[in-house]
Amino acid sequence: MKPQKPPKTFRVKSFGCQMNVYDGERMAELLAEKGITPAPEGEDADLVVLNTCHIREKAAEKIYSDIGRLTKGKTQEKAPMIAVAGCVAQAEGEEIMTRAPAVSMVVGPQAYHRLPDMLDKAVKGERATDTDMPAIAKFDSLPQRRKRSPTAFLTVQEGCDKFCTYCVVPYTRGAEISRPFSDLIAEARKLIEAGAREITLLGQNVNAWSGEDVKGQRVGLAGLIRALARLDGLERIRYTTSHPNDMEDDLIAAHGEIDKLMPYLHLPVQSGNDRVLKAMNRSHTAESYLRLLERFREARPDIALSGDFIVGFPGETEAEFEDTLSIVDEVRYAQAFSFKYSPRPGTPAATMEDQIAKEVMDDRLQRLQARLNRDQLAFNAASVGKRCTVLVERKGKHPGQWLGKSPWLQSVWFEGECQIGDMVEVDLIEAGPNSLQGALLAGN
Ligand code: SAH
Ligand code: SF4
Ligand code: F3S
Repeated sequence: MKPQKPPKTFRVKSFGCQMNVYDGERMAELLAEKGITPAPEGEDADLVVLNTCHIREKAAEKIYSDIGRLTKGKTQEKAPMIAVAGCVAQAEGEEIMTRAPAVSMVVGPQAYHRLPDMLDKAVKGERATDTDMPAIAKFDSLPQRRKRSPTAFLTVQEGCDKFCTYCVVPYTRGAEISRPFSDLIAEARKLIEAGAREITLLGQNVNAWSGEDVKGQRVGLAGLIRALARLDGLERIRYTTSHPNDMEDDLIAAHGEIDKLMPYLHLPVQSGNDRVLKAMNRSHTAESYLRLLERFREARPDIALSGDFIVGFPGETEAEFEDTLSIVDEVRYAQAFSFKYSPRPGTPAATMEDQIAKEVMDDRLQRLQARLNRDQLAFNAASVGKRCTVLVERKGKHPGQWLGKSPWLQSVWFEGECQIGDMVEVDLIEAGPNSLQGALLAGN
């Protein structure tokens, strides 16, 4: 590769989960520290960071079409400098370097704090790959938070030791690690100073977080949440994604005790059938999962439940799939994410017998989503008539319109006088499948 002009502007494009969004923000901060500025909306950037996701085949293949689009018909001088970050970088770093000569840098999710050094090399014309996994080092060498926003993500835990047989995350994100308690409190304070009124704690298994509080006592996620709830200026706390096996009693109790902890739980189940769950290496049963949800509902009766589902796992029969439909009928999720099984290279399920035909998966996904949509609409409809607080996140489409979230993570729009970052009281007056209309109460 020839030497390249030092970039003046950048754009980070993040795909995949919320942790990638968080990582994308942190990479943007690193680049800003180096004096590179975000490219204005609608203008080409000198440096494009593709922050990729490897979870399903479609997501992973996307980067090659993106690279093609960025470089099409352009000489190296005219094309932007390209960095591939995220989970595809981790899983397929070498392959990207051979398949896409236009890529200057490949950097894994645990190494992106080294992006500035790699950039210096790229300017000299040296392509660089860094997919090391130094435990936790990146968080220590990241700059201060600077984005102003009423809502913020905070990664507290990263990585996964569960090795579900379909999943790439343990390979792309590495082993489970927890960031230290005091670092998290400090970062939360910075976020609050920058205007955050809601913080969502992130982790691939966020409820596996553990640490030592200021007194040196071992605490779990609930302990961290209790400490965060004491911070002035912070109004709402959320966390995602939890795993059924790491659930501590105190976290369930916290939902009944801490007003700032929002009544929402995302707890993936994947399948409603015990044989399939076992083949997935989920190490919980449909029954144990349901019992767990029951306890959350006892602690916080209005809690909104959310889940993830996979249809067409290898060997899944029609009857086994129907168990997934049954668990949906039983839980009545407020929100859910459902996917067709996608075989991922290097995972045990990819080489299992009885891979399910695409048409069968399509049909199952459609039937499952029909029920999930039914329940989401029903949950929204049941909210009509309630009065709740909305955190105002942005302006709506029309002048005078605002958009925000209810405590149950529903999008709510309304009209009236307010500002981004306000917590306002609204009456929920009309429900759609994906949002609700609110009426702003006088005196807000
Ligand atoms: N750590 C979280 C989520 C991981 S990825 C958890 O365990 O719940 C988010 C979701 O993607 C998963 O919950 C699962 O539903 C889905 N997923 C993961 N691997 C997949 C695959 N190979 N094919 C289809 N969906 C998959
Ligand atoms: Fe993947 Fe399972 Fe880990 Fe979730 S718990 S990240 S699905 S291996
Ligand atoms: Fe995708 Fe990696 Fe997140 S594979 S879902 S970006 S952890």
